[in-house]
Amino acid sequence: MTYAKASASSAVSISASEEQRIVFPPKRVQERAQIRDYGHYRELYELSINYPTVFWALQSRLVDWMKPFHKVLGGGLENGDHSWYEGGRLNASYNCADRHAATWRRDKAAIIWQGEDENDTRTLTYYELYIQVCRFANVLKKHGVRRGDRVTIYLPLIPEAAVAMLACARIGAVHNVVFGGFSAESLGERIRDSGSKLLITADAGKRRGELIPLKEYADRALESCPEVESCIVVRHTGAPAGLIGGRDSWWHEEMRQADIFSVCLPEEMDSCDPLFILYTSGSTGKPKGVVHSTGGYLVYAALTTRYVFDIRDDDIFWCTADIGWITGHSYVLYGPLLLGGTTLMFEGLPNYPRPDRFWQVAEKFRVSIFYTAPTVIRSLMRESEDWVYRHDLGSLRILGSVGEPINPDVWMWYYRVVGRERCAVVDTYWQTETGGIIVAPLPGAIPAKPGSAALPFFGIKPAVVDRDGRECEPGGAGQLVIEEPWPGLMSGVFGEPGRFKQNYLTAYPGKYFTGDGAAADEDGYLWLLGRVDDVLNVSGHRLSTAEIESAIVNHPSVAEAAVVGFPHEIKGEAVCAYVIVRSGVKADQELKDQIRQRVRGIIGPIACPDRIHIVRELPKTRSGKIMRRVLRKISSGEYENFGDLAALSDPGLISELIEEAAGA
Ligand code: WT7
Repeated sequence: MTYAKASASSAVSISASEEQRIVFPPKRVQERAQIRDYGHYRELYELSINYPTVFWALQSRLVDWMKPFHKVLGGGLENGDHSWYEGGRLNASYNCADRHAATWRRDKAAIIWQGEDENDTRTLTYYELYIQVCRFANVLKKHGVRRGDRVTIYLPLIPEAAVAMLACARIGAVHNVVFGGFSAESLGERIRDSGSKLLITADAGKRRGELIPLKEYADRALESCPEVESCIVVRHTGAPAGLIGGRDSWWHEEMRQADIFSVCLPEEMDSCDPLFILYTSGSTGKPKGVVHSTGGYLVYAALTTRYVFDIRDDDIFWCTADIGWITGHSYVLYGPLLLGGTTLMFEGLPNYPRPDRFWQVAEKFRVSIFYTAPTVIRSLMRESEDWVYRHDLGSLRILGSVGEPINPDVWMWYYRVVGRERCAVVDTYWQTETGGIIVAPLPGAIPAKPGSAALPFFGIKPAVVDRDGRECEPGGAGQLVIEEPWPGLMSGVFGEPGRFKQNYLTAYPGKYFTGDGAAADEDGYLWLLGRVDDVLNVSGHRLSTAEIESAIVNHPSVAEAAVVGFPHEIKGEAVCAYVIVRSGVKADQELKDQIRQRVRGIIGPIACPDRIHIVRELPKTRSGKIMRRVLRKISSGEYENFGDLAALSDPGLISELIEEAAGA
């Protein structure tokens, strides 16, 4: 309710915005594209929606099956019992390695790795990848890992991470990758929750020339994980790893044992068997173990890679995400390798040692498809454009973006400065839960509108609905749901049957609720407006910002409200509300008291705002998204370094907000 109310004005600004620009696919991209006009997209899209089983049966051929499936789709979103390609049997590692190693791609680079140090590079051809995967799969077996067992992987972005994941898949073990930036505690929690028996880590990772002591963190995590019997350690930096006898061993020593063969038959997995678990935080307390099953996930990863990035055999595909995130799973590893592509893994950072590191790497390897996050683009945008121009980026063809809405200015900078107006920019919207991209402009077929992720991918039936589930008018902001299942959709939450349905399918029964706000314009383009489920933690109690905002706007004098958390010595985090009152209302202490009363009454004392600021306007991007990060900063007493404010629709507002916040 709040959300709708708070966003009503933003919705208007989206559709009424005169500056809404349309950027058509550059000719050179379009000419070579696999789908090169809107009509073709439309035709396929309609087929995928009207005859989903026909469509997905056809697309299933992107992977090789050991046994054919007998049913394309079973179950559905009513109960969250959707299942894809039932009866089909296949193996993910076979599909990513063996089948290419058996063709002319045998000596093609599957993985190119660039370390943080310029001279650290490695290439794994498809044949080499195949051998490594087989050998490591045999190592896992030797350690007693069996089909269905979970294995946690806590590694830097190095080729061993890919080998380890595929080796798990080869023997039917379920990989659980934990991002190397997570703490010992988060690692421990994820190891325990997943019930992993084995951990794969490295001596250390590298970051800005410094070592990240992964093994040390792993040791600490393992103190509280008695179930873990073995820990295999990659020697990556040469840092002391303090192997613990009886539990730890070196990767390279395991791999060269005489009893480790280079042949390992791939396990025949059921399409519905889990391929991996990946933890992600939700709007409730502990991270959820999102489970993806084999057949559907692989088909979806392959198809989206094929069409959204228009990947072909001569491409060098660089997705800058860490393998510890879903983006790394689907677009560093599975998508590109399923299609026999070349994937580039870069261990380093965008701005180390200099702000042109990404461009230098892109030039060095003649990258043609580049996929990164708006936050990266924004940070590089702050540097002089010369850092970009000093590199020959003529090999680039497709520029992708993912992770948050990319605002139009950042989009244009990416398009102009990095792409030199000769590359397609694709803003890709998706989630850990969706397995792959669900909204994006296909680069040769769909004109882009900077700031919008454009149109649904094949098989995705989105709708923007209000709180009652009624579809919003074009331009109206609401919540984004997906009405039909698709193969990339998660199969469940690990160890918690029922949670998937409860979390995602009950807000709008029978529909998948993304948790994101969105508006669809007259052309059906989707404009993502950010999470509607922001979460605060006040004295150990989890609170949703939306819920508190809703309680505040319930007061008849209030027009709009935005709630953020701020650091509090005792509570950890406390609630701060920015409120716009209706015209003619007196903004005094009495009103603030009434608002507090209202929140107490509706949610309870715990949610009662410590601070209430009555303001003229909320900081919003031109696409209407409240810039919560600005409010959060101001609320925590930081009045500078707001980052990129280019998107702010009312730049004068900041000083007003600071004045109000500082005075209160
Ligand atoms: C949330 C999912 C799977 C990508 C990496 C993040 C936001 C992601 C976009 C985009 C607007 C986006 C959403 C979504 N998001 N991409 N192109 N435009 N918002 O995966 O950690 O599961 O987060 O990221 O809010 O729900 P994740």
